Amino acid sequence: MVGQLGHPRPVTPLLLAEADAGELLTLQRAAFLSEARAHRNLELPPLLETLEQVRAALADPAYPVWGVRDAGRLVATVRLRVAGDVGEVVRLAVAPDRQGEGLGRALLLAAEAAAPAGVTRFRLCTGELSAGPLHLYAKLGYRETHRSPEADYQLVHLEKPRADGPAAIR
Ligand SMILES: CC(C)(COP(=O)(O)OP(=O)(O)OC[C@H]1O[C@@H](n2cnc3c(N)ncnc32)[C@H](O)[C@@H]1OP(=O)(O)O)[C@@H](O)C(=O)NCCC(=O)NCCS
Repeated sequence: MVGQLGHPRPVTPLLLAEADAGELLTLQRAAFLSEARAHRNLELPPLLETLEQVRAALADPAYPVWGVRDAGRLVATVRLRVAGDVGEVVRLAVAPDRQGEGLGRALLLAAEAAAPAGVTRFRLCTGELSAGPLHLYAKLGYRETHRSPEADYQLVHLEKPRADGPAAIR
């Protein structure tokens, strides 16, 4: 389904495949560098993930990875890991030059809408110094459940109940 997703030009979130691994890793590393700098931690999992691990994630049908392409270029991505009735949102990332256009918000909402029917709540986490993501998640209804130590900062864990809505990703 093609949707506006709050973006001036139509964008289409698509399921990514193994062939997208290199591009996905490049986008992920570029996007998460700002978080690494904010937390003075270059060991963030999205930065350490190898090409082989990205390929394995893309090959796993139980672990959907979505992306948004604009004029062929991969500009945003997100993954959903389902365990029981929980959908864990991971690796939400928008290309640095395309941030602030509504892509992250739209892709997160679309991933939630595309989660399997058995998912009743969503979880995610981010670093305590990630002001942008924390603002975005609060705006979309995520509430903090707890914090856990990570290096010399805290990881903020958030959760929200699923709201009924139509699937927005194919
Ligand atoms: C976080 C991220 C996915 C948001 O995507 P985006 O397309 O830039 O965000 P959007 O344009 O959809 O903005 C949604 C809201 O969040 C806010 N926001 C997003 N990133 C922000 C930032 N770095 N600083 C301040 N506010 C930010 C926007 O202002 C907007 O709020 P508003 O609706 O009140 O105006 C993107 O900035 C990114 O890839 N960051 C680096 C990787 C990362 O931190 N991922 C999340 C890990 S948990």
